[in-house]
Amino acid sequence: MDREKRAMDKNKIKAFADHVVGDMGSAMGAGLAYVGTKVGLFRAMAGGGPVTPEVLATKTGLQKRYVTEWLKGMVCAKYLDYDPETQTYELPDEHAYLVASEGTDHYVGGLFYSVPMMLGMAPRVADAFIHGGGVPFSDYGSEGVLAIDLMNRGLYEKRFANYWLTTCPAIHERLIAGGHVLDFGCGSGRVSIALAKDFPKSSFIGIDTDSASIAAAKETALQENLTKQVRFECGTTEVLPTDECYDLITICDCIHDLSDPLGILTTLRPLLTKGGILFIIEPKAADKLEDNIHSVGAMYYGMSVFHCMTQSLASGGPGLGTCMGPASMEALTREAGFGHFEILDIKSQTNIFYAVSL
Ligand SMILES: C[S@@+](CC[C@H](N)C(=O)[O-])C[C@H]1O[C@@H](n2cnc3c(N)ncnc32)[C@H](O)[C@@H]1O
Repeated sequence: MDREKRAMDKNKIKAFADHVVGDMGSAMGAGLAYVGTKVGLFRAMAGGGPVTPEVLATKTGLQKRYVTEWLKGMVCAKYLDYDPETQTYELPDEHAYLVASEGTDHYVGGLFYSVPMMLGMAPRVADAFIHGGGVPFSDYGSEGVLAIDLMNRGLYEKRFANYWLTTCPAIHERLIAGGHVLDFGCGSGRVSIALAKDFPKSSFIGIDTDSASIAAAKETALQENLTKQVRFECGTTEVLPTDECYDLITICDCIHDLSDPLGILTTLRPLLTKGGILFIIEPKAADKLEDNIHSVGAMYYGMSVFHCMTQSLASGGPGLGTCMGPASMEALTREAGFGHFEILDIKSQTNIFYAVSL
């Protein structure tokens, strides 16, 4: 044992120990950021300049002892600035831009929401390592639906019609003139709701197996007065209208989640109109592990184990995982009978976009 220890590089042990403690700090920082998002602390601090715990607790109506400890933790996690002389805390504008910007395409609160909803399942995920199976999507509950909604909503509202779809100009034109769109695995319906506003002459149908997501989607359509233009159905391919074809089928952040990705893509292929496209959005990952060794890769493989892969395996699916990469996607779509596969030239740190057609 001693000989083994002597043979080891002590600096490497020390560096890794630092790394482990740093990871624990990051995990705790993400948890504190979830609380700050959920109870409105970031929102209350945004644009407000330096503040004492007393003033912040009074302003938010929260417990002063908790607020004080949270502020200290968020300073150590480098989310907040601290002035020791005045003992005040400040959320820099550049940080507020990300953490207190609900509804924008730069809001990161959905990521924080995903932390407890995913890690709360860690004991069940560990159990699945031993016994197989997984955790069904519905078991992640309303916070699961909300986290995905918050992660994607701002992007869909601000970028889908105005940027992403402009890379497919013929389809963009068709939707302006009035086309038919299917959003498969629509979740809380934000793609259809956003596109319906930008393309008022087009009609939309969203389909998803999760009843809580569909209920949320229907509620939003009602609130936005879009029920004539947008409809939502709970189920999978069996609830597709038998007499409709689509100029655009979107599958966003979803193919890797499916219980039967090949069967579903094969069923959807004949539903495209001539010249229509299947527009796929997936988490951005490279084909080879060695090209995913960075913070986004670490985040996505964690999300895969704690959510994406696991809920697919729970439904008897292949559990493709969050990082399936373009080569796997191309192989899958070609196996489903699509003839054309293209990676779209869309800039994004976190997503990759494909246009697939007959
Ligand atoms: C990560 S969520 C993405 C939701 C939405 N597309 C978005 O981008 O916000 C994946 C969705 O796929 C849905 N899903 C999984 N398997 C499905 C299936 N076989 N048919 C339809 N929807 C499915 C889940 O219920 C979930 O809402």
